[in-house]
Amino acid sequence: MKPNYKNWVPNGMIAGFAAGTAVLAAANAAAWTLLDEDLPESVKLGIRCAAGVSLAGCGAATVWLTFLHNSFSYHGKRQLSKQIIEGTADYVSIPDGGTGLDVGCGSGALTIACARRNPHATMIGVDRWGKEYASFSQKLCEKNAKAEHVENVSFQKGDAVHLDFPDEAFDAVTSNYVYHNISGKNKQELLRETLRVLKKGGTFAIHDIMSKARYGDMKQFVEELKEEGYEEVRLIPTDHGVFMGQDEAIVMALNGSSLLVGKK
Ligand SMILES: C[S@@+](CC[C@H](N)C(=O)[O-])C[C@H]1O[C@@H](n2cnc3c(N)ncnc32)[C@H](O)[C@@H]1O
Repeated sequence: MKPNYKNWVPNGMIAGFAAGTAVLAAANAAAWTLLDEDLPESVKLGIRCAAGVSLAGCGAATVWLTFLHNSFSYHGKRQLSKQIIEGTADYVSIPDGGTGLDVGCGSGALTIACARRNPHATMIGVDRWGKEYASFSQKLCEKNAKAEHVENVSFQKGDAVHLDFPDEAFDAVTSNYVYHNISGKNKQELLRETLRVLKKGGTFAIHDIMSKARYGDMKQFVEELKEEGYEEVRLIPTDHGVFMGQDEAIVMALNGSSLLVGKK
């Protein structure tokens, strides 16, 4: 049995846009052949323009999503997801007998990668599953851990907004590309919620699209953490060559990707 970490851009999403493109192509053909001759020219032009623009938009989205899917794929040439997961897990160090937490674990890739690097510790992955990423589930995570022969992991349902754990429960916390999905919430407060459950002295490695528009002033946030006694705090841009090139990041709408690492 091989692990299947699925894809951050699922096949179903691409199929939906491809189907939409096909429907809009048919609507375009109809707009050019079936419109009532008696309709005013301006109305006919408006309908044809709207149909053409919708077709172009939906077609372009299908091509773009297919490109993203291929770049992220664990089986493709680029394997960007794998590179990000491995690169983030490299910063997660857990003392023997300790426990780490992966917030928004999806298909379990980062949880399992951290567990593998810390064989004498335990990793817990939590996710709200079943909303925007329908192909990810607790069962899938458990299957992947089994397929990887990694036993020091467990998975449970949980919400990044209110983690169901007491303060200072974990020796390490990590997360990848989760908080930007949580709309209507202050992203720095989400980071604070994750850091709340980290023990003093524990390490954190949190990767996300931390652009100013989404996260506010992260340099200031780093300074605040340092003033509070956090150590070795660094905000590492990963969209300038660490995980991806600048152009690639822009094309993939991942510009602003950064890794926040340090010790509480
Ligand atoms: C892009 S996927 C990343 C999954 C995983 N971290 C990885 O690197 O493969 C985003 C994940 O965040 C999860 N998520 C979104 N909002 C969440 C929330 N409020 N609490 C917990 N998980 C959440 C989604 O269910 C999804 O699995």
